[in-house]
Amino acid sequence: MSKVNISGYGDDLTINDVRLGDLSPEEHEKIELTKGGQNYSPLENVVVSHVKDTSTLICRKPSHNDVSNYIEEELLDGLCCYSAVNQGQLNQTIVDAVVHHLTEEKIPTVPRSIRHKYMSGFLLAASAFTGMDRVVPKVAGVESWELTFKLCRRWGYEVKKIPNNKCIVVGAKGNFHGRSMAATSMSDDPDTLNNFGPFLPGIELVPFNDYDALQALFEEKGEYISAFSVEPIQGEGGVIIPDDDYWPKVSELCKKHNILLAFDEVQTGFGRTGENFAHQLYDVKPDIMGCGKAAGGGILPVSFVAGRDDVVGVLTPGSEGSTFGGYPLASVVGIYAIKTLIDENLSCNAKIRGAQLMEGLNQIKSNFPNKIKEVRGKGLLTAFEMHDEKHLDGHKVSLGLLDQGVYAKETHRTTVRLAPALTINENQVNVLLDRIEQVIKGI
Ligand SMILES: Cc1ncc(COP(=O)(O)O)c(C=O)c1O
Repeated sequence: MSKVNISGYGDDLTINDVRLGDLSPEEHEKIELTKGGQNYSPLENVVVSHVKDTSTLICRKPSHNDVSNYIEEELLDGLCCYSAVNQGQLNQTIVDAVVHHLTEEKIPTVPRSIRHKYMSGFLLAASAFTGMDRVVPKVAGVESWELTFKLCRRWGYEVKKIPNNKCIVVGAKGNFHGRSMAATSMSDDPDTLNNFGPFLPGIELVPFNDYDALQALFEEKGEYISAFSVEPIQGEGGVIIPDDDYWPKVSELCKKHNILLAFDEVQTGFGRTGENFAHQLYDVKPDIMGCGKAAGGGILPVSFVAGRDDVVGVLTPGSEGSTFGGYPLASVVGIYAIKTLIDENLSCNAKIRGAQLMEGLNQIKSNFPNKIKEVRGKGLLTAFEMHDEKHLDGHKVSLGLLDQGVYAKETHRTTVRLAPALTINENQVNVLLDRIEQVIKGI
């Protein structure tokens, strides 16, 4: 084993004589290319250093001319960590709660095999906030989806009485639920699937927003289907919004066939779409749902499953668990992520600023109808899709926006998603729109 020397904080954080503040973007890239796995291709020549305000990131690089100086650039955060930072970067209330509990309350780190007082607080807050009977804490978003998947299967066998090993969970084409093997098995994206087989059996997909296809499948195989496991609005798929009557009709259909409606609200939850949860937009209630991302207030990975008594009730000791799911600090962060959302009225701001953003995007679309094909969104989960032509490339738009001081990223070749923090103000939305217009004009 080679020697490892570590010292300092921030720019002075030094690992074996390499001081982070001295690294150029190219040097960071080289380290990632040689020491890391290549599961992402980050935007080039930019390295985020710290936060200026709830929607502004500061990128820093050493100055070529003066090694003791930095070049700093501001980036308006149009993505907020894929909706994990709905409460805004370094939300003061959540940071204060973390610092207070670490320094004053001497918060311990213990697993779930011994009771700690903060768990009760988290369960009370999360069950009240979701309006669900029971809550089970997890860590990453994909883990909450994975647990809903397992619970749907177990509920299918134990409550619905599906014959052993015959259970089917139905998903939607174009879905994204994360990167576990179960989530990969439900995916229909070739990049996600390539050489990761064999995949989990017992999964079938129907087109999203196609009621007739779902009805036909339920009629054909309903006795074996335990759940329809689906995002209420497809986020990674490019902000795909279903028809207004789709979820009410699906909810009725699920009830008719005794099939669970299992929503993945990891990206759409916590105020993102203008309601606390996207299902509230459609006036339906899932039987079980997974939440993540902003459940940790942008500070810690916190996720959870919330559901009906008889669904979550199939869990037994030893059948599920997670060392850090609901550990004391995560419980405090989870409680304060909810408190902030409520106290700062963030879903309401998402509705107001989302309307402003959508209006502006539609204006850009009417200014450039030969470039922008469609604008989609609910609250502050928005996207614009360009026509499928070679020069109208989402990645080029992301790079153009970066040049203009905006961080946003394409989801598919022609679609760019915009999902800023729910704390964004009127002026920042106008800046975002102005920059987008300039980039669209130039391509
Ligand atoms: C709908 C949905 N589910 C699950 C996940 C996975 O979350 P995580 O990356 O935290 O595991 C994501 C991530 O983008 C998502 O959008």
